[in-house]
Amino acid sequence: MYHEPVLLKESLDMLGLRPEGTYVDATFGGGGHARHLLATLSGNGRLYAFDQDEDARKNALTPPFAGNPCFVFVPANFRHLKRMLRSEGVATGSVNGILADLGVSSYQIDTAERGFSYRFDAPLDMRMNNRDGNTAADVLQKYSADELQRVFSELGEVRNARTLARAILQFRETGQTLRTTGELVGLCDKNLMGERWRYLSQVFQALRMEVNDELGALADFLKDAHEMLAPGGRLVVITYHSLEDRLVKNFIKTGNVEGNVVQDFYGNIDKPFVLTVKKPIEAGETEIKNNPRARSAKLRVAEKAKT
Ligand SMILES: C[S@@+](CC[C@H](N)C(=O)[O-])C[C@H]1O[C@@H](n2cnc3c(N)ncnc32)[C@H](O)[C@@H]1O
Repeated sequence: MYHEPVLLKESLDMLGLRPEGTYVDATFGGGGHARHLLATLSGNGRLYAFDQDEDARKNALTPPFAGNPCFVFVPANFRHLKRMLRSEGVATGSVNGILADLGVSSYQIDTAERGFSYRFDAPLDMRMNNRDGNTAADVLQKYSADELQRVFSELGEVRNARTLARAILQFRETGQTLRTTGELVGLCDKNLMGERWRYLSQVFQALRMEVNDELGALADFLKDAHEMLAPGGRLVVITYHSLEDRLVKNFIKTGNVEGNVVQDFYGNIDKPFVLTVKKPIEAGETEIKNNPRARSAKLRVAEKAKT
């Protein structure tokens, strides 16, 4: 299976679907959420599904998506949400619900040659859009020690980020290049702190987030999503780690990812969303048992203010 959707019922319920509404799935992947969302639409109802991954695009060429008049696939980064939707003829402020299920799919992680996993020996790629941009190998080869330290410490919370960054620089100084996940794992093994699986997960997560500018893309997306939503429209986001969750939480509360409360001239606090669900929804034990990825999932929901 390409990907088992997480918090499926909860996220679709929270979108408050109407058959003739306009919806966006910003992270189509294997279409796990999209196929159920699409099944509720009819007539003028539309689902615009985004994914920057070429393999995800191929899923959109299969039933029930191919040829479905209610379905439009947009092969783009969701950070360009507004521009891409506008070019499809969708008016600003007219979308009834937007779903984003962040991160990478099981298919991407389990496909060795994509380089996302320390479980396989493969080229250090890690790009979701593998036709464009720096690979993980480029990052490890081009970044200074300070930049690498920032990546490991801020994006992966790697405890000895400085030591690891220096080890990479020393490796480069011998004239060698880190080209494969196996070579990176070898270097990590010499600098491990704490449990091996945790350390490797943190290093690989940090690199993946840097390669795909995941936090930057999320910040751009949230801003566009608010503009594109109709008053009363719903934003539903599933996050998988604290950094992206904090951004979403801040944005829902204040309208900016830093979480700075903005007041107008009269001292009124600017509230771009009505908080629909204060605490994030989490998966139950049964779902977690069937799909361990659901363990870290947090579903956040907000409704765009009506005035
Ligand atoms: C967790 S999977 C989504 C799975 C999907 N909900 C399902 O049930 O099949 C995330 C997907 O979003 C895509 N993605 C992540 N960040 C993206 C971005 N900035 N722009 C477009 N697609 C993105 C990935 O390529 C991946 O296919």
